[in-house]
Amino acid sequence: TGIVAIIPAAGIGERMNAEIPKQYLKIGERTVLGLTLERFLNYEPVEIIVLVTSPSDTHYDNLRDIENEKIVVIDGGEERADSVSNAISFLYDSGLPDDTPVLIHDAARPCVTSTDIEKLCNHFRNTNKACFLAAPVVDTIHQVDEDATVNGFIDRRNVVRALTPQLAKFIELKNSLEEAKAKKLSVTDEVSALKHAGHSVDAVIGRPDNIKITTPEDLRLAAFFLDNQ
Ligand code: CTP
Ligand code: MG
Repeated sequence: TGIVAIIPAAGIGERMNAEIPKQYLKIGERTVLGLTLERFLNYEPVEIIVLVTSPSDTHYDNLRDIENEKIVVIDGGEERADSVSNAISFLYDSGLPDDTPVLIHDAARPCVTSTDIEKLCNHFRNTNKACFLAAPVVDTIHQVDEDATVNGFIDRRNVVRALTPQLAKFIELKNSLEEAKAKKLSVTDEVSALKHAGHSVDAVIGRPDNIKITTPEDLRLAAFFLDNQ
């Protein structure tokens, strides 16, 4: 097997406040999810895409722009971590070899480029280390306490924003996510789980327009970025 991609798309998009989950909203003629899938389908080394949708999803089956034999659709769970965990279990049950590179990418990031996906995969191949797409922080960052009083200094040169995809060897990902769950660690991405489990993880600087669509304004921003890539 080449590379496997897991695309969590089982969220309800509460903050978008739309009639339907945000991954099914349109940017121009295309859905957010269709655009995201296309970026992975266009990078040939990705051989399997595990698309995680909600068990109550009524939208995916009506989409004609994203049919492809590389895509396997499975049910997601309550939280993003549960959706990812379902995908990992599915791959484990399918007998995926331990050292298969697995990419995890939010359906809500349709502006990721196939070039950045390739850059990340090349980094993994060259270093054999877990890695993720990241963006530099442009603002000055201050650490504050609960009262919003500044109580520490963070040098922004030592900070990056974690985007997706995040990439690791299947077995490392599986063990790290299981460990984080067992220890009830509040990890919000795969990198945090990998790091907690003792793995070294590299940030690979990618395009800052790889935004996660969260609010209605983000849809317009994404439309602009997609027109200008
Ligand atoms: N996701 C998922 N399963 C969940 C929750 C989220 O697969 N139970 C997916 C979303 O579909 C999205 C990605 O994880 O592609 C990132 O999550 P987020 O941006 O938070 O999406 P939502 O949870 O849908 O949005 P909100 O938090 O505003 O409800
Ligand atoms: Mg969410």
